[in-house]
Amino acid sequence: MAKTKKAFFCKSCGNETPKWLGQCPSCQEWNTLIEEIVVREKDKRQRTSFLENTNKVPVPINEVNSLDVPRMKMPGKEFNRVLGGGLVPGSLVLLGGEPGIGKSTLLLQVAMKLTNRKILYVSGEESLQQIKLRGERLGKLNEKCLLLTETSTQKIFSQIENVKPEVIIIDSIQTLFSAHIDSAPGSISQIRECAGEMLRYAKETNVPVILVGHITKDGNIAGPKILEHMVDTVIYFEGDRNHTYRLLRAIKNRFGSTNELGIFEMTGAGLKEVTDPSKVLTSNYEEDFSGVVPGCVIEGLRPMMIEVQSLVSPAVYGNPQRSATGFDLRRLNMLLAVLEKRCGFKLGIKDVFLNMAGGIKVEDPGLDLAVVIAILSSYTDIALEKGICFAAEIGLSGEVRPVTKLDQRLAEAEKLGYKKIFISKYSSIKPQDYKNIEVIKEGKIEDVFRLLFG
Ligand code: TYD
Ligand code: MG
Repeated sequence: MAKTKKAFFCKSCGNETPKWLGQCPSCQEWNTLIEEIVVREKDKRQRTSFLENTNKVPVPINEVNSLDVPRMKMPGKEFNRVLGGGLVPGSLVLLGGEPGIGKSTLLLQVAMKLTNRKILYVSGEESLQQIKLRGERLGKLNEKCLLLTETSTQKIFSQIENVKPEVIIIDSIQTLFSAHIDSAPGSISQIRECAGEMLRYAKETNVPVILVGHITKDGNIAGPKILEHMVDTVIYFEGDRNHTYRLLRAIKNRFGSTNELGIFEMTGAGLKEVTDPSKVLTSNYEEDFSGVVPGCVIEGLRPMMIEVQSLVSPAVYGNPQRSATGFDLRRLNMLLAVLEKRCGFKLGIKDVFLNMAGGIKVEDPGLDLAVVIAILSSYTDIALEKGICFAAEIGLSGEVRPVTKLDQRLAEAEKLGYKKIFISKYSSIKPQDYKNIEVIKEGKIEDVFRLLFG
């Protein structure tokens, strides 16, 4: 009988300590250690001796055979783009996201469309009937896709041995359990062990494995965060569940760029790719509304136009409220402080609400100027003229700063038919190079404000 051992694991980084501590010694987070029972197999940890015989010898780097394996093309441009051009054989991919965002839908859709490979879709969450029903909603069923509802990794591996799939999808890692570890499925030690087994399988057989991992908003349960360092590629599926748009973002990719972004729309028949995001993220109202301003952002490697909506109103109850959907609240507070202190707008006594169209989350600071103008437009209740957009960052002293990939942003604005774009005075773009759009270079928020609202 193996000895029962208790250990404490950090929820945020997975670090293991023998005793409870208030602060994790590895990632310095507070109150993240939780107790779990761990039973280790005897001799699972092999001692390595310095004199052990090994057939691996150091090789000069230029003599290493280069890995020139063709990537498996996945169905759909957006998914391939995020993977860096396709699935690399033998790679372990983690698809993370909040429950209900559409991870199972995305992967089942991939499984239904990948008709030239044998796929094993393992689900620990839904019954075979449920998966089939969902598959039918998504379109034609793919007979090369095998379904398995199993949660024990040892049993999964024995089935894998039988059917020899070319791609394995596991939905989700939180439901798996390995007999080598005694704690409950979903606990940190189980998640680590099961992912470790999948990793070893992928590397040994060269079969790619895609894992689904749930995260919650507050990251309270043992999330896939602790797996991020183990897997080759981490992709996050994000978006607002109440909106239809979903972003697929690569956070880490050992085989490609992490700057890629895929955009999908959730429809009644599954996820549809959005090839022209600017069209769907800006609206064409007949009337003019104050507080509605388009900004040109770069998400991933693509420029897109997104509509910023803001509402500034007198605070009725004590503390003024600040709320931001799709935008960092701390950044909003910073921009409000800049407007108050540097430009003299009395926003401290106002409620400020900010919203990105389509429920999309924007991280690009190039949207700052559009946010500031949206706030000022709502503050003064003057609607912005049509055909004007913005691409600049705001500094702490109220200066308008240049942003990256400005030529691409200008090309996008020009393509969409915008008449004017405001950018930073300090960027190297020459306005005369642009024939179809008027490029206005400014250095201070006050100057932009004066030009627009007089
Ligand atoms: P799901 O893939 O089950 O989410 P996850 O695996 O990330 O938990 O998808 C959940 C939502 O997607 C669900 O609320 C229903 C919706 N949905 C559609 O709108 N259209 C569809 O065709 C499908 C299959 C699901
Ligand atoms: Mg699911």
